[in-house]
Amino acid sequence: MGMVTQGKRGVGGGESGGFGKRIMELAERLAQWSEVSDGLTCTYLSPAHRAVAAEIHNWMRQAGLITEIDAVGNVIGRYAADEAAARTLIMASHYDTVRNGGKYDGRLGILTALVLVEHLKRLGRKLPFHLDVIAFSEEEGVRFASSFLGSRAVAGRFDRKLLKRRDADGVTLEAAMRDADLDPAKIPTLARRREELMGYLEVHIEQGPVLLEEGLPVGIVNTIAGSIRSMVTITGTAGHAGTVPMARRHDAAAAAAELVLYVERRCAQVPMLVGTVGQLAVPNGAINIIPGCCELTLDIRAGDDATRDAAMSDVVAEIGRIAARRGVKIESKEVQRTAAVRCSPRLQSLLADAVARVGVTPRHLPSGAGHDAMMFDGLTDVAMLFVRCGNGGVSHSPREIITAEDADIAARVMLDAVLRLAATS
Ligand code: GLV
Ligand code: MN
Ligand code: MN
Repeated sequence: MGMVTQGKRGVGGGESGGFGKRIMELAERLAQWSEVSDGLTCTYLSPAHRAVAAEIHNWMRQAGLITEIDAVGNVIGRYAADEAAARTLIMASHYDTVRNGGKYDGRLGILTALVLVEHLKRLGRKLPFHLDVIAFSEEEGVRFASSFLGSRAVAGRFDRKLLKRRDADGVTLEAAMRDADLDPAKIPTLARRREELMGYLEVHIEQGPVLLEEGLPVGIVNTIAGSIRSMVTITGTAGHAGTVPMARRHDAAAAAAELVLYVERRCAQVPMLVGTVGQLAVPNGAINIIPGCCELTLDIRAGDDATRDAAMSDVVAEIGRIAARRGVKIESKEVQRTAAVRCSPRLQSLLADAVARVGVTPRHLPSGAGHDAMMFDGLTDVAMLFVRCGNGGVSHSPREIITAEDADIAARVMLDAVLRLAATS
């Protein structure tokens, strides 16, 4: 395949800006499916989630791709090479959302890949490799406290033990899958093999302010932070809020408060280290009962695993001190651990060159958020392109926004990168 040169304009679906316009329209259409009427919530295998899968599947079919919805609910569209034995480039991200989330987290990466193959198909431009657009069914870990269910399966990292996890209503993952006509027994067959892959590319909204502050529409991810997630249960002694003297209390919520503040203090000590207590509950609590139990979640992340592990071991030590001082029991159960990932230097250069060719200064930046790309580390080369996030860089919020112009640039960068790969592979 020959050299590919594109001007700064004019590859956007035939007319300038066409990719961006279409990505925004499709993102709006997906955002209409939600579990709640006053925001966007789309968690694994809810009716809204299944409707989104069907919609994406339909668009992939209309684009002329070879499609399937696999055993974990991933929607896959293959733009096939002529050679059946050709290797595969994956372009992917997730279609589930957090509760009350944004329209672009995850979906932007799916839609960018989709408009790109629509364009190639329209032009009749074949590639020397299969291009698989994958819409992963689950990345956020909202319903079963386990992230990356979709990408884990495709990367061959799905642990069968996860099938026993229960959601807040006590439904196991296995039962939820069967109820949605998915067959958990087929999950092992979804694993891709190293030899068949030529790389993994993911476009994602930055979810932070770096590109916005620097006036750049896109950036190239160099590292993705690793994380540890735990569920913490504090057991104190419930009692009457009016009669138990302060000195005799074993208040589980007060112990939790100390822990929350310790996590904040400890994680503020190191740049790129972050710690969050995102859920905090007093089960059976009431205004006139001293909290006998408190449940909270812990999420600690850093760009390198040693920094994260050091923070976690300090938190564990502090848990011991708080428990002893207050006479409460504190149990911490790790539910997820992901290692930090370095993106492929080769694919970073490919993206950086493509960014430069659309007239944007290449900027490499780390990701503090987790991404499906992490699951493919060690299996194939991975790289990510971030797109500027508006509104001060807010994400996991209905205030998350991007512009059509930036989405258009991202699609043109990815098209350029894919065509370069085609020219050189
Ligand atoms: C995913 O959005 C995560 O990083 O928690
Ligand atoms: Mn997210
Ligand atoms: Mn995401």
